[in-house]
Amino acid sequence: MGRQLVPKLLALGHEVVATTRSSAKLGEIRAWGADAMVMDGLDPASVMAAVGAARPEVVVHQMTALASVASLRHFDREFAVTNRLRTEGTRYLLEAAEKAGARRVVAQSFTGWANERVGSPVKDETAPLDPHPPKTMRQGLAAIAGLEKAVTAARGVEGLVLRYGNFYGPGSAAFLDAVRRRKLPVVGAGTGLWSFIHLIDAADATIAALDRGTPGLYNVVDDEPAPAAEWIPYLAEVAGAKPPLHVPAWVGRLAAGEAVVSMMTEARGSSNSKAKAQLGWALRYPSWRQGFRAWVAEEPGPKLRQAA
Ligand SMILES: NC(=O)c1ccc[n+]([C@@H]2O[C@H](COP(=O)([O-])OP(=O)(O)OC[C@H]3O[C@@H](n4cnc5c(N)ncnc54)[C@H](OP(=O)(O)O)[C@@H]3O)[C@@H](O)[C@H]2O)c1
Repeated sequence: MGRQLVPKLLALGHEVVATTRSSAKLGEIRAWGADAMVMDGLDPASVMAAVGAARPEVVVHQMTALASVASLRHFDREFAVTNRLRTEGTRYLLEAAEKAGARRVVAQSFTGWANERVGSPVKDETAPLDPHPPKTMRQGLAAIAGLEKAVTAARGVEGLVLRYGNFYGPGSAAFLDAVRRRKLPVVGAGTGLWSFIHLIDAADATIAALDRGTPGLYNVVDDEPAPAAEWIPYLAEVAGAKPPLHVPAWVGRLAAGEAVVSMMTEARGSSNSKAKAQLGWALRYPSWRQGFRAWVAEEPGPKLRQAA
């Protein structure tokens, strides 16, 4: 997201201070034209120092620690650091933003598996989060709920939460590689609904949220929530891969765990009506059908990525 967001913000004339934990990345960020600082979002002194030095008008929170997630079987274990970034990290950022006199904090969240898995197939922001998530996802859901509450209840700043759907687009090749290797089967009847968002559209919604909209929650997803039984074969087809395997739910549970089976069979989609109306946001890829084609056309295969 940062790779999409920072160049777009600079092109629009914003002054950007981007953070990373690694001093080795400072040069790359500065080469884009942004200021860059080292910050650890789990260290309150580091957050206070970075935000205090930047004196931002708006703080955009995109911190996550999911880059090395290999399996969703032990969901809460894999999300443990991300959950800390969503709880502690968000608290440190809000305190630092208020102290630095920021006007607004725009924070990331997620929509999809966090939705209640009963009732209407497509949920808006007034629908409750899942009160009974699979056991392995309880801490992850609590962290999302905690972030959303902390940001929208903030007193000294305007707090907006963008609940992004499942990302795809440049650099996010995980699904694509899995489909190409036939490692992403349709589980059960594949009735779980997924809401997707191209990274370009997610970045545009984030930029719109700097000035527009009132404090609250916004689903940032495309127009077409998609059953797993439709989007997985479609992605395989546009990627030129063999059709996906189909496995019964009990096999999915044994092989990949409860969280994956729930996403594949029970998940609900999300509506973007509020974000469109209040953020004045228009999508380049209103459907994953067009978006997947553009993504596959631009995304190098694993061999080319390795060579690069
Ligand atoms: N991927 C999805 O489908 C999806 C869906 C919904 C919401 N989201 C959320 O959207 C946001 C952006 O996602 P993404 O795919 O762009 O994530 P990403 O590529 O993994 O980037 C994560 C960012 O967080 C920073 N970070 C990690 N640990 C940190 C720490 N301890 N302190 C400070 N910064 C830290 C990383 O910076 P360095 O590594 O340079 O330190 C990096 O800039 C995330 O918060 C994610 O949870 C993602």
